[in-house]
Amino acid sequence: MTVKKIIINLNTAPDAKGLTALNELNSFFNDRDFNVDLNDNRLIVNLRAIDLKQFSLIKKTVQQDCGKENAQMLNQIEDSINAIKSYGIKNGKRIYVDYNKERKVKNRVAKEGRRGKYYYAQQHKYIDKNSKIPDKFNDQIICGDSLNELQKLPDNCIDLVFTSPPYNFGLEYEGSDDDHNWDAYFKKLFLILDECIRVLKYGGRLIINVQPLFSDYIPSHHLISQHCIKRNLIWKGEILWEKNNYNCKYTAWGSWKSPSSPYLKYTWEFIEIFCKGKLKKTGEKDNIDISADEFKEWVVAKWSIAPERRMKNFDHPAMFPEALAERVLKLFSFKNDIILDPFNGAGTTTTVAKKLNRHYVGIDTSEQYCATAKQRLGNE
Ligand SMILES: C[S@@+](CC[C@H](N)C(=O)[O-])C[C@H]1O[C@@H](n2cnc3c(N)ncnc32)[C@H](O)[C@@H]1O
Repeated sequence: MTVKKIIINLNTAPDAKGLTALNELNSFFNDRDFNVDLNDNRLIVNLRAIDLKQFSLIKKTVQQDCGKENAQMLNQIEDSINAIKSYGIKNGKRIYVDYNKERKVKNRVAKEGRRGKYYYAQQHKYIDKNSKIPDKFNDQIICGDSLNELQKLPDNCIDLVFTSPPYNFGLEYEGSDDDHNWDAYFKKLFLILDECIRVLKYGGRLIINVQPLFSDYIPSHHLISQHCIKRNLIWKGEILWEKNNYNCKYTAWGSWKSPSSPYLKYTWEFIEIFCKGKLKKTGEKDNIDISADEFKEWVVAKWSIAPERRMKNFDHPAMFPEALAERVLKLFSFKNDIILDPFNGAGTTTTVAKKLNRHYVGIDTSEQYCATAKQRLGNE
C-alpha cells in the first residue's frame, strides 16, 4: 500500500513516556491511514488520509500527561502534516496518496495553456502606473453624487473598491430615489462603475455586493458582471453571502404546489470580485493582517454572516454588516491600502477600513448618511 512518508529528526530519542504517547496516538487511527514509526531518534510518519481537526483534538488528549518535550514532539508531527500543501479532500479527510488519480482531467496545465485564461480581459488597455491619492481626498467622507465626485480623483489611485449600490428596489433612502426605470438605473450605475474602474490602481480590486430583484426577474449580478467583463476586468470569482434569513414568504400567490410558476426563494446575496489589469495585488508582507484560520475559512466562497441588525439605530434601510466588510478587506487588501466606497451609506466600509488600519474614501448623496458615517469613524 502506498503512503506518504514524512521524516522528523528528533534531537534525542523519546523516553518511555514519549513511546507511550506515540503508541497511544497510533491507537486512535486506522493503521492504513496514519501511523508513526520510531527508528532511533527519527520519527517516520506514514500518511494516507487524515482529518486534521480530529488529529488536533486527539493530540491534545495524548499530550495531557506526556511531559513537555514529548508534547513538543507531537506538535512537530502535526506541523509537518500541516506543512503538506498538496492533498485531496474526501469526507472531511485530507487525502495524501493517489488523490490525483481521481481527477478527470489529464494534463490540466497544458490544456489550460492552450485555452488561455480570462481571454476576455487580455486586450485591456490599462496602464501599469499608479498614482498617489491627493491628501484632500484621503480619509474623507464626501457628500455628493459619486458620478461627479469620482471625476475629481486621478486615475489609478485606489487599491480596492467595496460597495453595495442601491438595488432599485424602491427603498426609502434619504436624498435619492430607488425606483428608476431599469434602463436609466443601469446607465447611471455603469457610469459610476466606469469611474470606479478608472480610479482603481493597476492590480486593484472592484468588489460589488449585489442583491438582484428576483421579483422583477432582473439578474443585476449578471448584468453588472457582464459590464465589468466588457471593460476587460478579470473576474476573480463570486462569494455567496448566506444570510440565513428564512423569513421570506413561502410562495407567490397561485404558484403553490404547481409547476405553473414556482417562485424561487433566496436567503443569500452575491459578491462579485473583479481585478484591473492583473490578478495579483502588490503589497508588503508586513501589511498582511489575515490569520491562518481566517484565511482557511474565508477562501471557501460561501460566507455565513447574519445581516446587519442595527439599521434602525443608524436610520439606514440597506446596510451590510461590519463582519462582511471585515472579511472582504482582510482577504483582498493590505494594511495602509486605500479603500473606496462610492455608495457608502451609513459608512460600514469606511468604519471597518479605519478599524483595520486602511485609508478610506466614502461617498454618498445623503447628508444624513454622511453625518452617520463620520460619527461612526469618530467612535473608532
Ligand atoms: C445599499 S446602500 C449602501 C449601504 C452601505 N453599504 C452601508 O452599509 O451603510 C446604497 C447607498 O447609495 C447611496 N446613493 C444612491 N445614489 C448615489 C449616488 N449617485 N452617489 C452616491 N451615493 C448614492 C444611497 O444614499 C445609499 O445610502
